Amino acid sequence: MAKWTYSEAPESTDVVSIKDTYDLFIGGGWVAPESGDYFKTINPATEEVLAAISMADEQDVDKAVSAAREAARPWQRLAPSQRAKYIFRIARVVQERSRELAVLESMNGGKPIKESRDVDVPLVAAHFFYYAGWADKLEYAFPGRRAKPLGVAGQIIPWNFPLLMLAWKIAPALATGNTVVLKPAETTPLTALAFAEIVQQVELPPGVVNIITGAGATGAALVKHPRVHKIAFTGSTEVGKEIQRTVAGTGKHLSLELGGKAANIVFDDAALDQAVEGVVNGIFFNQGHVCCAGSRLLVQEGIAERFLDKLKRRLGTLRLGDPLDKNTDIGAINSRDQLEKIKRLVGIGVEEGAEIYQPPCEVPERGFWFPPTVLMGVSQSHRVAQEEIFGPVLSVMTFRTPDEAVEKANNTPFGLSAGVWTEKGSRILWMADRLDAGVVWANTFNRFDPGSPFGGFKESGFGREGGRHGLEPYLDLEPL
Ligand code: NAI
Ligand code: MG
Repeated sequence: MAKWTYSEAPESTDVVSIKDTYDLFIGGGWVAPESGDYFKTINPATEEVLAAISMADEQDVDKAVSAAREAARPWQRLAPSQRAKYIFRIARVVQERSRELAVLESMNGGKPIKESRDVDVPLVAAHFFYYAGWADKLEYAFPGRRAKPLGVAGQIIPWNFPLLMLAWKIAPALATGNTVVLKPAETTPLTALAFAEIVQQVELPPGVVNIITGAGATGAALVKHPRVHKIAFTGSTEVGKEIQRTVAGTGKHLSLELGGKAANIVFDDAALDQAVEGVVNGIFFNQGHVCCAGSRLLVQEGIAERFLDKLKRRLGTLRLGDPLDKNTDIGAINSRDQLEKIKRLVGIGVEEGAEIYQPPCEVPERGFWFPPTVLMGVSQSHRVAQEEIFGPVLSVMTFRTPDEAVEKANNTPFGLSAGVWTEKGSRILWMADRLDAGVVWANTFNRFDPGSPFGGFKESGFGREGGRHGLEPYLDLEPL
């Protein structure tokens, strides 16, 4: 098969300036960690060290929470329209610095620049714009109820959409009058630290947003802190469950956005070439490091062979490599740990009897990489049909009837998202009613909009982010 060749088109890194060492961002300024401990953050595509990052301990967490507590009263008393102005300003500066933020995100996390530039960063700005709009309209969002902020929100985010998850957490918290202590993931702290600079640039009152870096223990200290009124977490189901146990009985508000194992369901009447694009986007977007990734393909039996032929042919055209190259479709795996997890689960899939397909694909020598992979002949009981792999790996199953598709799609512990491909509108609605998923996409996949709520059922968590619904987890709603 002929393959298009491309000249290299690397995005310049001149636009970013990375410091050697980053302290913690507390009370509007940079504060050295009490422990004096720093850890290295790398570029997963090259394994090159980018910076030394503070490891916050319990004392640092306490400092950040105190700063957020002190800032809470004046922030709440500010006129809502004034709070809105700050949030608008953040959105504008994100737009102004969009190229820098996109390059930094790709350098630290491994995602293709095409995605950080065209998806992540524009959605970050859109999210702040959207919630800025709500800040002075809460009485219309919740008519007949008084909306009161909770106080200090502790927010813990993952590494797959570092800046976007920060926006999903910080924008609604500020719009509702809360103050924030946010901890980015240990492998991807740099855009959150750049965001701290933006917080300074827009002259947000000190302490309204605090950014503390560290690992799991730092997150755990934030969850445990008695002066934190709300915990918002996105990450693994395992840690989500642990957090839920920790906050049980404390009266802390909690929202969890955890894993997924979404089905992308292709009926025999679907526009097949479009569906192939949707399936590719569903699982290979961001190397499959996506909680709502379409990691299970359910394809109707009569078209399965034809569809898989088309899919394999498409896989052969995906370009894996330098995340900063504008032609790259598949970037680096975020970390060595995640690469090990993907390899282990794919190995288990093959042992359990799946047939593996990987297109011929050159993998760079340094860095963490995994080729686009399809596991065929997977059955319901296989671990690769049940567990989140969080990598560029698609598990394929077939079905005969719509009922069987629903039963198979719902047969996982998760319930975050699903995709339906068919030309019949009635069938889309019939399926959407029956799928246990927070989001059901029809003839598309991985579409995000700040106005649309996102969140899960079952082990995918609870609480919604985005839309009017996304305000609720940050408010006490009382009758007037
Ligand atoms: P993780 O859940 O350990 O990490 C997510 C965040 O939680 C990070 O900021 C981490 O420092 C923090 N954290 C870790 N332990 C904590 C604790 N005990 N208390 C409070 N905060 C804690 O996820 P990890 O280990 O990076 O990835 C493992 C798997 O989780 C992935 O392979 C994937 O399947 C899933 N995952 C799902 C995500 C999603 O978007 N739903 C995002 C990241 C991972
Ligand atoms: Mg972990």
